Amino acid sequence: MSAHAQAPAPLTARRSEKLSGRIRVPGDKSISHRAMILGLLTVGETRVEGLLEGEDVLRTADAARALGAMVERTGPGSWRVRGVGIGGLVEPRDVLDFGNAGTGSRLMMGVVAGHPVTATFDGDASLRKRPMRRILDPLVRMGAEIVSEAEGGRCPLTIRGARETIPITYETPVPSAQIKSAVLLAGLNAPGTTTVIEREASRDHTERMLRHFGAEVAVEPAGEHGRRVTLVGQPELRPAVVVVPADPSSAAFPLVAALIAPDSDLVLEGVMINPLRSGLLTTLVEMGADITFLDRREEGGEEVADLRIRAGALRGVDVPAARAPSMIDEYPVLAVAAAFASGDTRMRGLHELRVKESDRLAAVAAGLAAAGVDSTIEADDLIVHGTGGRVRGGGTAATHLDHRIAMAFLVMGLATEKPMKVDDGTMIATSFPTFVPLMRGLGADIA
Ligand code: S3P
Repeated sequence: MSAHAQAPAPLTARRSEKLSGRIRVPGDKSISHRAMILGLLTVGETRVEGLLEGEDVLRTADAARALGAMVERTGPGSWRVRGVGIGGLVEPRDVLDFGNAGTGSRLMMGVVAGHPVTATFDGDASLRKRPMRRILDPLVRMGAEIVSEAEGGRCPLTIRGARETIPITYETPVPSAQIKSAVLLAGLNAPGTTTVIEREASRDHTERMLRHFGAEVAVEPAGEHGRRVTLVGQPELRPAVVVVPADPSSAAFPLVAALIAPDSDLVLEGVMINPLRSGLLTTLVEMGADITFLDRREEGGEEVADLRIRAGALRGVDVPAARAPSMIDEYPVLAVAAAFASGDTRMRGLHELRVKESDRLAAVAAGLAAAGVDSTIEADDLIVHGTGGRVRGGGTAATHLDHRIAMAFLVMGLATEKPMKVDDGTMIATSFPTFVPLMRGLGADIA
């Protein structure tokens, strides 16, 4: 049964000291989704090692099957995809149900929009609230038709893909790898070049993986922080082996836990340190966190390192808005670290947090309040008033079907005076199904 169909399962975290051990968190979610999708679009056998076997990625695997691929698990984290190739999609017979997965659904909308097939996209109550116009607008310019959509451009929605996909040049209205990727994936089936311009660079896994499968992708700087990405359409993708590095967005939870739980000393193995994903590390180091990068190396085309983390005092900092795209999923757990720091932490430019799996700005502020921590929202900024280390706890964080809100407040409870409860832990399975047993193995009291 999928996570969102289950009854809520509350979890409680209690004060725990001396977290220690060496662990590897599961594979990166962004890369796992993309591996399934490019496998679908390649004729022949793509192999994936270290795939994140979380609910979200399994939904993308199901959608790839519905669109014609043969997808098979051959061992723990090892998967095989026999794709249909660009232009070869079959029309799905049923609704594509993406559950909680914004990335899977939005990237697959791009794939469908570029093919002459019709498909309906749907998901859970969280996905049904998320804005899809930002994806649909460029896809309509590329020749797709929106047959139906729920109010305000939401799921469930039906896309009739283009008969002849039009290559476009598109400037994304917000920094979003999902928008960029949807346009590039649609552009795979367009004659000529498709260009995406972003004012702030977002994660570049689609560009990297397209190249890995043999597509021609050029990336140039645009403006101070931006990029211009150009894809040559209708390439013949070649089957590839994708090795998925450990997800920095999942590593963030044990990492912050080790910083705030007294006397902890932990190693997280093989964490991806792609600069477009490592804003949290930059910020925590500025806060005075004791993090050592060991054995920097390359794995699966990405730079990775083993991270050694030792508990210690943190101080509040000012996090610039320009850093947001490189740590967009990490603000809930950064807010937890900030609650234990001395002084205020101001996180700037967080408007995109309002349209994640939940309104994370509101959910974080409410969870902090439940723990006895003051915070202020000023326009798009969140200011956490740090306690200098003593956080009362003793409350319940409402998770609103959001895995990262659940994990962030469980991490918090490992260092609060009284236990912290979250109202529902089931959604953790979407991105980090082994979170609770891995944390327990480090000495965390979560039940
Ligand atoms: C993702 C992009 C980000 C991020 C999400 C994964 C991706 O969303 O929040 O968890 O894999 O492309 P946006 O592109 O909407 O910022």
